[in-house]
Amino acid sequence: MKLDKDIQVAVIGGSGLTALDSFLQLDSHELETPYGATSAPVIEGILADRPIFFIARHGVNHTLAPHKINYRANLWALNQLGVRQIVSTNAVGGIRKDLQAQSIVIPDQLIDYTFKREHSFCADESDNIPHVDFTFPFCNTLRRRIINAANSLDMDIADTGVYGCTEGPRLETAAEILRLEKDGCDLVGMTCMPEAVLARELDISYASVCLVVNRAAGKSEQLISMKEIETCLDEGMKKVFELLQAVVPSLAHLD
Ligand code: HPA
Repeated sequence: MKLDKDIQVAVIGGSGLTALDSFLQLDSHELETPYGATSAPVIEGILADRPIFFIARHGVNHTLAPHKINYRANLWALNQLGVRQIVSTNAVGGIRKDLQAQSIVIPDQLIDYTFKREHSFCADESDNIPHVDFTFPFCNTLRRRIINAANSLDMDIADTGVYGCTEGPRLETAAEILRLEKDGCDLVGMTCMPEAVLARELDISYASVCLVVNRAAGKSEQLISMKEIETCLDEGMKKVFELLQAVVPSLAHLD
């Protein structure tokens, strides 16, 4: 494998990952975008001996709810900085039986249930309407690198899963989760869309590392509590971060 120095890599940090530990910060970029402000400045630095960009999806102090995130500004800014590969982290609820709290999943498919978001860079009349192919919404090469990194760490992960993306910010009803399950969803979250499709419109490779922080509504005896989610995030994000550190050196490589 050869390193392609022109390929820039970014991590989009979700809930529980608003900053990276052991990240040597070199610069901070506050970009003006045609879509308004990004969630946070894009931080440029070194992780695991590799230059990367990092952005906190929910803002530095985690003040942006999933439906209020300016996904277009974030993706536009990363593209402007030359980013060609994105690994995102997403907290999710587990629907499939094996996806209990603290499980890590690398989804391979998604179903979009969001309905109120700016989901394309093509908002107005255009003679260049982006009917992008989205058969496989996550980049398989990136997914494989993440899965290989997990294997090298002996980390137990689920290497496939269908991510159902809901509008939020409320959690789902039990009936909604049953519907998602019947549709084929294995996990449910609120942030992968439109992020994944905006990356595709910009031809940026995109893959997600999902951390299960609760069983989805109706899938456990208890109601979902924020306390449970926060405890899970604290513990689980350490594993996610370990995985990121292991995968970053293998990114921007050509096979
Ligand atoms: N539903 C939707 N999004 C989520 C959940 C959930 O149960 N847990 C974490 N993000």
